[in-house]
Amino acid sequence: MSPQHGRILRPTLPALRRAARLIRRGQLVAFPSETVYGLGADAGSDQAVARIYRAKGRPRFNPLIVHVADLRAAQRLARFDERALRLATAFWPGPLTLVLKRRPGARISRLAAAGLDTLAIRIPAPAMTRTLIRLARRPLAGPSANRSGRVSPTTARDVAQDLGGRVSAVIDGGPSPVGVESTVLDLSGGEAVLLRPGGVPAADIESIIGRLAPAPEAGAKPRAPGQLRSHYAPHIAVRLDARDARPGEALLAFGPLAERDRPADPGAYRNLSQSGDLAEAARRLFRCLRALDQPRFRAIAVMPIPSHGLGAAINDRLRRAAAPRDPGA
Ligand code: TXA
Ligand code: MG
Repeated sequence: MSPQHGRILRPTLPALRRAARLIRRGQLVAFPSETVYGLGADAGSDQAVARIYRAKGRPRFNPLIVHVADLRAAQRLARFDERALRLATAFWPGPLTLVLKRRPGARISRLAAAGLDTLAIRIPAPAMTRTLIRLARRPLAGPSANRSGRVSPTTARDVAQDLGGRVSAVIDGGPSPVGVESTVLDLSGGEAVLLRPGGVPAADIESIIGRLAPAPEAGAKPRAPGQLRSHYAPHIAVRLDARDARPGEALLAFGPLAERDRPADPGAYRNLSQSGDLAEAARRLFRCLRALDQPRFRAIAVMPIPSHGLGAAINDRLRRAAAPRDPGA
């Protein structure tokens, strides 16, 4: 690979042009998004997509989200019914991924879709990322830019730490403002199924298309093949519903009350939001998990977090972080 290997680039137009050229040549470029950083490659190329799976150590049965710059590009790839159009109008660009029936002519690698006849599509919010996609002149396959199963990255530095040697460039768009991944909604069948809670709260979607069906139970036939039970895992253990830290544990707190009994060691404590704001907590979630993930602690004890709004996505990620680790997740 080139000597610029893994280099962090500021998002200037010349840098985006260079990154677009790398993508056209089948290389991996990590890109900023409002949710988490993505590991991007030409979605039309089996070889480029294979590189993503290799770099992440990701099982190949777990399909990738395809990122496009505008609705017209999305409509060339998949069939939008009335519901899909209304949601795209309401939430794109933004943290909503729609799973839709693939059009027969769509030039998307079968590997990216893990052989399914559906595609997961979204338009990312940062203008620089949409410019990158336009300059590359092709849709971008992009899972979160972390090693499979680990905590998702919300800064360019996180990406460089996890995957530095495995990507040709990382575009630095600053910290991701939403902080949890997109909501994944399956509209490929009759009913709308919430496959993954995320940056757009379910209630906001229901206000537009009515009631959603819940994600199938773990253990049932996986409709979002990537929804493995253990995921987003720090290296050390995670203990949920903690009221305080036990000896040797770090504390991940939420809300104003926690401030009263914060541990003496500032390195052993993070508060997701002192004011109890769920948007702030989502934004800080992965950053705080990374900060507390130190071998000197026995575990990260996590205080309860309300489950409405963005709390659903936060609790989903925390449950997976605490789950017994599946090999190969
Ligand atoms: O916010 C996000 O969604 C980030 C940014 C980079 O866009 N991406 C992300 O990608 O979280 P990833 O690969 O970590 O998660 C994609 C999820 C997985 O659970 C995968 O199984 C599911 O979407 N998915 C992808 N294609 C699918 C399909 N055709 N049918 C059902 N689920 C699909
Ligand atoms: Mg991921």
